[in-house]
Amino acid sequence: MKRFAIAVDGPAGSGKSTVAKAVAKHLGIIYVDTGAMYRGVAYFCIQQGVSPLDEAGVLSLLNNIKMEIQPGRDGQRIFLDREDITSKIRTQEIGLGASQVATLQAVRQKLGDMQREMAKNNSVIMDGRDIGTFVLPQAEVKIYMDASVEVRARRRMGELEAKGEKPVFEVICEEIIRRDENDMNRLYNPLRQAEDAVYLDTTGMGIDEAVEAIIRITEGKIGEV
Ligand code: CDP
Ligand code: CDP
Repeated sequence: MKRFAIAVDGPAGSGKSTVAKAVAKHLGIIYVDTGAMYRGVAYFCIQQGVSPLDEAGVLSLLNNIKMEIQPGRDGQRIFLDREDITSKIRTQEIGLGASQVATLQAVRQKLGDMQREMAKNNSVIMDGRDIGTFVLPQAEVKIYMDASVEVRARRRMGELEAKGEKPVFEVICEEIIRRDENDMNRLYNPLRQAEDAVYLDTTGMGIDEAVEAIIRITEGKIGEV
């Protein structure tokens, strides 16, 4: 089977990581979570006492980041200076920080190069905001995954509640809208649907249904996988 790439882009909470991870397992290919890499940069900055909004501060740290990505059967693990930070980056604060460092061209360039390198020798399904438009413009399959703000906020609520937190629906909605705005209106590689991407609205869709839809679209594009 020839090597191929599936690019999945879309806003926060549309289901990209959950669905892409399951598709990767089903097809026996590698899943790359590029959002985790932006989160890793934000985590490192905060750890070093630099605000993700401090452009000069973030850029001065960029060359010191020792980030390692390990794809695996049960998803990707991310290491900073050999420390496994996979679960530590899953907070609302780091999510917002990620969308702030993601506005900087030098950050995008560095992470984009790492992402292209991972797709060079492997079939991958990669999720993010600019995969179909900038990182892998030649991807055989491109999906733009979306869902209503309310449904995406409800999904995030579920995740936070499972961690024992007590999130407020209106606050989560606001955070999602703010992050959408950051991602869609930034100068470099903003979130938008690639012209040749298939639009997948998961508002009323369960995880299995979305996984099946992507597998169907993939088979339609490149034949039985
Ligand atoms: O990666 P992204 O931010 O797009 O979304 P996610 O982290 O994959 O999904 C956010 C939450 O929604 C997770 O807890 C998923 O289990 C859930 N989800 C869902 O309930 N139904 C879907 N169709 C997709 C995701
Ligand atoms: O899982 P969720 O959708 O909440 O976010 P994520 O995929 O972990 O990404 C966190 C932030 O990183 C996003 O809000 C984007 O600002 C940024 N990001 C990006 O700019 N480009 C990517 N390819 C992936 C993430």
